[in-house]
Amino acid sequence: MQNKEVAALRDAYARHFPIGAAVSPETLDRHPDLIARQFSSLTAENVMKFEEIHPAEGAYRFEPADKIVKFAEDHRMKLRGHTLVWHNQTPDWVFEGADRSLLIQRLEEHIATVVGRYKGKIHAWDVVNEAITDQGSEPLRDTQWLKIIGKDYISLAFHLARKTDPDAVLFYNDYNTENREKRQKIFNLVKELKESGTPIDAVGLQGHWSVEGPPVEEIENSIVQFASLGVKVQITELDLSFYRENDDEIRYTEPPQELLESQAKRYREIFEMFLRHKDAVTGVTFWGVTDDGSWLNHFPVRHRKNWPLLFDENGEPKSAFRGIVSASESVRK
Ligand code: GLA
Repeated sequence: MQNKEVAALRDAYARHFPIGAAVSPETLDRHPDLIARQFSSLTAENVMKFEEIHPAEGAYRFEPADKIVKFAEDHRMKLRGHTLVWHNQTPDWVFEGADRSLLIQRLEEHIATVVGRYKGKIHAWDVVNEAITDQGSEPLRDTQWLKIIGKDYISLAFHLARKTDPDAVLFYNDYNTENREKRQKIFNLVKELKESGTPIDAVGLQGHWSVEGPPVEEIENSIVQFASLGVKVQITELDLSFYRENDDEIRYTEPPQELLESQAKRYREIFEMFLRHKDAVTGVTFWGVTDDGSWLNHFPVRHRKNWPLLFDENGEPKSAFRGIVSASESVRK
């Protein structure tokens, strides 16, 4: 239970943009007061992914997702839907025995059912996640969606989502958007989609960054570049790891104070930049609530502790939290 004297992010950012967190039903049970007080938006960390919500043909499992929807409604929070089309966490049955027309039919049914169920409750959907490759000249990632349907699977998914919920804000979502080559490939894709009349409204920068990088200017360049296409931008999965991207060592078993402070400073700088671009930035979501619940304790190294978020394992605010609150205060002056 959090001290009421601690500021609330959702209030500090009320005039700017919603502040969200990715949650599971279990996180809601563990930290209901903290989440309700601090955040104004939620994303389902896993339970709306294809394998969770639609594990077998004709079989949907809505209960865990419904629980998150209800929590958001009860606490007047926005809700982001994550995610409809992805190469990961999609069950094998989806592709089994499918030619182009059968896979389109399955996709159509999935989108109509899931987006339809939460119409008017989920205000934004990550329609396609991570369709662009990290390396090489190939723009599109080699996935079953691409192999079986062809490259128009992306625009098809957007059209299906728009048809089911004309009011939902539709996103393309990806990581490493600060890497210039990848950013350019994503930019080209979004531009092409817009030019061909695909209903895409926004780009999600996942924001799995670290205490050391990427430089704030590269993040800023991404926001500016995507916004130039007339789409909105959200940071959809923010965390700042204590480790650089390719570091597999275990360096800390407890968080060093100076790193906690650098993390706070960096969060502050990043949020000051977001605030300068708040015409384009319509939301920032953290990928988790407390450090012990972060996926980064298991990835890329299993059982390696990491402290990427704003609250410690007791739900107490870290310096990182204060860095973000002070960024919001600096705007008021
Ligand atoms: C990607 C996905 C998320 C999540 C994270 C890691 O960024 O979009 O759904 O799986 O990886 O947890």
